[in-house]
Amino acid sequence: MQASDTSILKPSNPFTPIFGKVPPYFAGRESIIDEISSVFQDPDNNPDRCTLFVGARGTGKTALLTHLGRIAEASGWICADVTASNDMLEEIRAQAERATQHLIYKEDQRTITGLNIAGIGGISWSKENHRPETWRITMSDLLEKLSEMHCGLLITVDEVDPDLEAMERLVTTYQHFVREDRKVALFMAGLPHRINSLVSGDSTSFLRRAARYQLGSIPRYEVVEAFRLTVESGGKTIDDGALAYAADAIEGFPYLFQLVGYRSWNASSDHGAISLEHVQQGAKLAREELATRIFDATYSELSEHDKAFLIAMSEDEAQSKRSDLMQRLQKPSSHITVYKKRLIEQGIIEETPGGAFRFALPGFKEYIRGQARDEASD
Ligand SMILES: Nc1ncnc2c1ncn2[C@@H]1O[C@H](COP(=O)(O)OP(=O)(O)O)[C@@H](O)[C@H]1O
Ligand SMILES: [Mg+2]
Repeated sequence: MQASDTSILKPSNPFTPIFGKVPPYFAGRESIIDEISSVFQDPDNNPDRCTLFVGARGTGKTALLTHLGRIAEASGWICADVTASNDMLEEIRAQAERATQHLIYKEDQRTITGLNIAGIGGISWSKENHRPETWRITMSDLLEKLSEMHCGLLITVDEVDPDLEAMERLVTTYQHFVREDRKVALFMAGLPHRINSLVSGDSTSFLRRAARYQLGSIPRYEVVEAFRLTVESGGKTIDDGALAYAADAIEGFPYLFQLVGYRSWNASSDHGAISLEHVQQGAKLAREELATRIFDATYSELSEHDKAFLIAMSEDEAQSKRSDLMQRLQKPSSHITVYKKRLIEQGIIEETPGGAFRFALPGFKEYIRGQARDEASD
């Protein structure tokens, strides 16, 4: 048999360790997806019509937005997906317009007899429509056309940036659409501190009433199930011991789920079953990759006080007590309050029910210890 034939027969790796990529199985997000999908069936008075997804890097915000966009389209809505920027209003308009025209075309094909579509066809966009101040009017016209086809518009905004002027314009205009009873939904995703700062703005205070989903870590049993299903979807099997080791290494973190899976699958090469040994190899590589792909970027955004706080925390094995941190940092309780809040908002640490602190990103404590050693030896 020739080499090219073997490569066709070899099952391909089903894991998706790429930012923004929709995984074959969403671990632990079933109830969020079910709940939010109801918006496309019944948008009126639906509390999830304007939704914020909040989470640290790698928790699955972008993948979830993309997936929900696909569900919207499968439910007969059109969807405009943008990443926050000052050009996003124009981008939303362009995407919505293209999707609408496509829809009109399809409708046109379907309704040779029956419905009169003369009034809907041939939307023309004059130069005037492209001016920013007419965005609301342009979009209202478009929503009007859509409503004639009983079609809704979902706008998704990824990587929310509260400092952009366009954010505020989008939110205030969306508010007008809601008031006008338009069939429109707005889903936005971002890092916790960015979403908090957007929501606390005066002109965007409307968002305080938006639904908010914290994309936290995934329960272990959900990790186990999705991991097994992903492996099986690729045509291999995995035994319980290997699966348990993978779940321990993943610690509920979506990006790590994909990295551990991807590397373990490759370690198993031609074997039809992924063994404990393969997962041990895979998990080791995955940890190293996590540092360069997530931790470096996260660390570089921290202030000196943030870093000192985390270094002080990294001296503890499980969790850190406020009094110990005050002593190590030589700072008053108010300092601890300020920095713990900042770090919780960034998804880096979490507070235990007993008021102590622990790291929320798997492996970040070890990473911080490494950074502290590097800085000490410089
Ligand atoms: N619920 C999930 N279960 C398993 N893998 C997931 C899940 N959500 C996201 N992923 C995977 O995790 C990685 C990070 O997802 P992404 O959406 O880019 O995160 P974020 O936008 O929050 O940084 C991607 O490889 C994606 O395929
Ligand atoms: Mg993202």
